[in-house]
Amino acid sequence: FPPERIRNFSIIAHVDHGKSTMADRLMELTGAIRKGMQEQYLDKLQVERERGITVKAQTVSLVYRHKGADYLLNLIDTPGHVDFSYEVSRSLAACQGALLLVDASQGIQAQTVANFFLAFDQDLAVVPVLNKIDMATAEPARVAAEMQQAFDIDPASCLLASAKTGRGLEQVLPAVIERIPAPQGREEGRLRMLLFDAYHDEYRGVVCLVEVVDGQLHKGDKVVSASNGEQHDILEVGVLAPEPHATGRLCTGQVGYIITGLKTTKSARVGDTWFLDKQPVPALPGFKPSKSMVFAGIYPVSAADFEQLDHAVERLTLNDASIAFKKENSAALGAGFRCGFLGLLHMEVFHQRLEQEHGASLITTAPTVPYMLEHSDGSKTEIQNPSQFPLGQKLAGVWEPTVVATIVTPSDYVGRIMELCQDRRGDLTEHAVIAANRTLLRYTLPLAELGGDFYDELKSLTSGYASFDYEESEYRKADLVRLDLLLNGEAVDALARVVHRGKAQSMGRRMCAKMKELLGRQLFEVTIQAAANNRIIARETISALRKNVLAKCYGGDVSRKRKLLEKQKEGKKRMRRVGSVDVPQEVFHALMKTN
Ligand code: GTP
Repeated sequence: FPPERIRNFSIIAHVDHGKSTMADRLMELTGAIRKGMQEQYLDKLQVERERGITVKAQTVSLVYRHKGADYLLNLIDTPGHVDFSYEVSRSLAACQGALLLVDASQGIQAQTVANFFLAFDQDLAVVPVLNKIDMATAEPARVAAEMQQAFDIDPASCLLASAKTGRGLEQVLPAVIERIPAPQGREEGRLRMLLFDAYHDEYRGVVCLVEVVDGQLHKGDKVVSASNGEQHDILEVGVLAPEPHATGRLCTGQVGYIITGLKTTKSARVGDTWFLDKQPVPALPGFKPSKSMVFAGIYPVSAADFEQLDHAVERLTLNDASIAFKKENSAALGAGFRCGFLGLLHMEVFHQRLEQEHGASLITTAPTVPYMLEHSDGSKTEIQNPSQFPLGQKLAGVWEPTVVATIVTPSDYVGRIMELCQDRRGDLTEHAVIAANRTLLRYTLPLAELGGDFYDELKSLTSGYASFDYEESEYRKADLVRLDLLLNGEAVDALARVVHRGKAQSMGRRMCAKMKELLGRQLFEVTIQAAANNRIIARETISALRKNVLAKCYGGDVSRKRKLLEKQKEGKKRMRRVGSVDVPQEVFHALMKTN
């Protein structure tokens, strides 16, 4: 295929607006998969299915006949969630255009706005598609007017479609061909390719997805990474149809996969430029190594399972180079890992995968963001664990990461949302009416305040009608303290947190009360205290009680007696001893979740 017969495009949409269904239909239409062969072919992983989100981008090449000529259409799937916005923008960098899918009954939502601007910033041609027009509640005319108001899109250019019934789908691929420009690379130029995704395949090792921007790539070529100078041999090259299909080469403008014998995706950096050995070219713009924005400790429930966890973590991170991890020891929880993630959802997905795919049972500490400590000499250090927050040392300041959040909501809920954002220390930066009864709010919020229940609160305040998206922003100075929970005077390291001074006391009280409730009766007196920067701010006491598990058995029922003793031993295994108090694992679990 010469470049003028190639189109590289993505589908961008708010979650649940029908992206996967549309991709399936387009594959059926072009014969890439048989009808009903596999629902939502592109969403491969089990977690993705369950949560209905796309985590890792998958890509497919389609051949479509239009006005007597065959075209090669490369549909590049983008991850659907904000945590992966860098991957979305890298996937879009391999495209010249995008289908902007909007649910015709719901209209524009927060991710529609965020994704539109990602595409707009990269100068992509946007083909608007109003989906789900089969629904009784669909209002395509109203939504087309919203598109005009929010994005200056001509309502007449909006396609009407139903990915479910197939109505209107015949216009979609012709619009892709006619409205999206062909890739503009130089066929005669030196090889320059963009690596936009990588995954680990059990049998083939690392598979990288690339767009050949200039020149050609052949099997047997030796290529070099512009970001770190590493060399790789191209062992196999081909297209995804959607299964890998070796072709021996990729031409200018083509999208496909390469196999280089890499063992882990760590060396395959998304956004990197690769070129031929000894023929360097300027790197494509926009590469940045992924940065962890949320950290959590992950520990096995029973210390004996550490090796199994170690193995599982290693295997899973083979496939996701954006997870940072290192071994860590906690006095309360034993040996485990400190893991860094792109965001909260990324963390949850990882946790779920660990449990599902590796049968590991885990304790995850409360997530924390990276804090920047400013010392009196002006130098700064980053901490990724609240227990590294220094006590009794004068700091010039503590800086925390913020995000710019976009919220789209029916206008009636604006007041409640403002209250919520204010409570989470947010600053309003934009307030715009984008359609009749629909308002867009932009806030700068501390990333740490999005943890816990922010999203649930937003949903419940607005009966599920508000949508939300965010992007990383700068660090901001804030009045933060370290909050510790102490048992009989000894701090439980795994429960340390960094919180805003104004919230420390109420949070400390809640944690003490919760700890008291969860520990229940104890043989000896237990003091529970909360301390902010070493100063006690809350306290609870559990008074002593003599407990005898055998008291309940009368007489000489030996087997029952043995059973009870076994049970007690079993329980002990799942406990950790802090300040001479045995703390069951469930208590850690519950306290990590306290907000
Ligand atoms: P993510 O992968 O989570 O981003 O979602 P998505 O945008 O890919 O949405 P998906 O294709 O999973 O569709 C979401 C829901 O909408 C599913 O239950 C689909 O069956 C349904 N759906 C998709 N397209 C249509 C349509 O044209 N009409 C109707 N009625 N339902 C549709």
